[in-house]
Amino acid sequence: MSENILEIAGACKFFGGLKAVNGVSFTVARGEMLGIAGPNGSGKSTLFNLITGVPFGPTSGEVRFMGERIDRWPAHRISRAGLVRTFQKDAEFPALSAHDTLLVSATYNGQLSRAQAEARIDNAFRSVDFGQTRRSMPSRELSVYEKKQLMIASALISEPALLMLDEPASGLTKPEIQRLDDLLVAVNRSGVTVLLIEHVLSLLLSVSQRLIVLNQGSVLAAGDPHDVVKNPQVIEAYLGGRS
Ligand SMILES: Nc1ncnc2c1ncn2[C@@H]1O[C@H](COP(=O)(O)OP(=O)(O)OP(=O)(O)O)[C@@H](O)[C@H]1O
Ligand SMILES: [Mg+2]
Repeated sequence: MSENILEIAGACKFFGGLKAVNGVSFTVARGEMLGIAGPNGSGKSTLFNLITGVPFGPTSGEVRFMGERIDRWPAHRISRAGLVRTFQKDAEFPALSAHDTLLVSATYNGQLSRAQAEARIDNAFRSVDFGQTRRSMPSRELSVYEKKQLMIASALISEPALLMLDEPASGLTKPEIQRLDDLLVAVNRSGVTVLLIEHVLSLLLSVSQRLIVLNQGSVLAAGDPHDVVKNPQVIEAYLGGRS
């Protein structure tokens, strides 16, 4: 079995003349938590899109998951193989309870019995430490943090080997970010490889074993997170983008 769970080689995604992702190459080791940072519009979400095929694959380049080329696979085949992502904007069903939201995920492709689905749901709730009494609450009444827990639980339902999270800390308070930090570490320790896009650098520095910084669709720096954030080009890219 390949030591790298994910291998990206020369990945590009162009929208007309806009090179949103332009020749990105990197690997993710099995069991790793890899952080991805970069200014707004640097291509982070587009990179997730082209890896997962939702809503599109790459313009060119290769994506390998567990040793297999997946860049021409339909999205449902990729997720069934164990590669699952969350979206930057929470996709929620406001009227459904937290439990029934997970039931939708668990029964989506009709492969699980109701008993199997309930067991998966219970596991997913426990993985994110979701309060027992909150499970029957309509999603719209959940706190921002609980919605994040639910989003991650929903992604864990299919028991992915690789979980890709797009800015899960957005909108959270400092104490909530600390809770998310503990949650991500626990999920990663349970055996799930994690690819994490974040703007909250303190979280990336705390949980990532390696960090990649994108800028204008290309990899600007990669390596030890504490070294990468001290890189003058990285500092310049952030300051330039925010001024
Ligand atoms: N479907 C699309 N059609 C056209 N352009 C797009 C599309 N999706 C993204 N882009 C453009 O590609 C570039 C990269 O966008 P992307 O959403 O990947 O950035 P990002 O790094 O995730 O930014 P943010 O930190 O704001 O989430 C931007 O210029 C964006 O406008
Ligand atoms: Mg984004």
